Amino acid sequence: MQAQFITLDGIDGAGKSTNLTVIRNWFETRNLPVLFTREPGGTPVGEALREILLNPATQAGLRTETLMMFAARCQHIESVIAPALSGGVNVVSDRFTDATFAYQGGGRGVPLADIAALENWVQGGLRPDLTILLDVPLEVSMERISRNREKDRFEQEEAAFFTRVRDVYLSRAAAAPERYAVIDSNREREAVRQSIESALNQHFGF
Ligand SMILES: Nc1ncnc2c1ncn2[C@@H]1O[C@H](COP(=O)(O)OP(=O)(O)O)[C@@H](O)[C@H]1O
Ligand SMILES: [Mg+2]
Repeated sequence: MQAQFITLDGIDGAGKSTNLTVIRNWFETRNLPVLFTREPGGTPVGEALREILLNPATQAGLRTETLMMFAARCQHIESVIAPALSGGVNVVSDRFTDATFAYQGGGRGVPLADIAALENWVQGGLRPDLTILLDVPLEVSMERISRNREKDRFEQEEAAFFTRVRDVYLSRAAAAPERYAVIDSNREREAVRQSIESALNQHFGF
């Protein structure tokens, strides 16, 4: 099997960062080479753009924001993701283009067709082989992100924004069920862990 490109996505507070450890352990147990990265970020240029994008003081129009996301992604693909995959290393990214469709498209209102055009331009044929979509109801997301950290520029948005974000994630997953594992993340951590592991087992044929 070729090296796989796996993305972890979902609204803020869904448990992406928390469950990276689950995925890391899964790869380690099976001795499979894997690289963990994140978006926006993953490269010096990408991390600098991340600072700008997440800083609540940043004022950027919706197209500017979208282009910065894809600028970061372009560098990320060229210097990290594509080389790893062609060198036989699996890649797991905490967020990827689904987040741009969801946040800039659903949340901000950038036409999804424009995002799809940028996706084609920046990524060529590169798409995730598997997207683990962690899903929680809005109230749970809101409760979790207000729990114990300072909110970034996106996390400060209102509930209606996140409703649109979540809707786009779910409709993208429904439109391409073979690529997505939608996991109910509003459960005990142990149950979420088991679902993630079975999604990986199924994808890799274990
Ligand atoms: N299954 C779960 N049950 C209860 N709380 C959880 C669960 N998974 C994650 N959390 C908590 O929710 C918060 C957000 O989780 P995090 O992994 O940072 O989400 P994300 O990276 O998707 O924004 C954290 O405080 C985390 O400890
Ligand atoms: Mg996170």
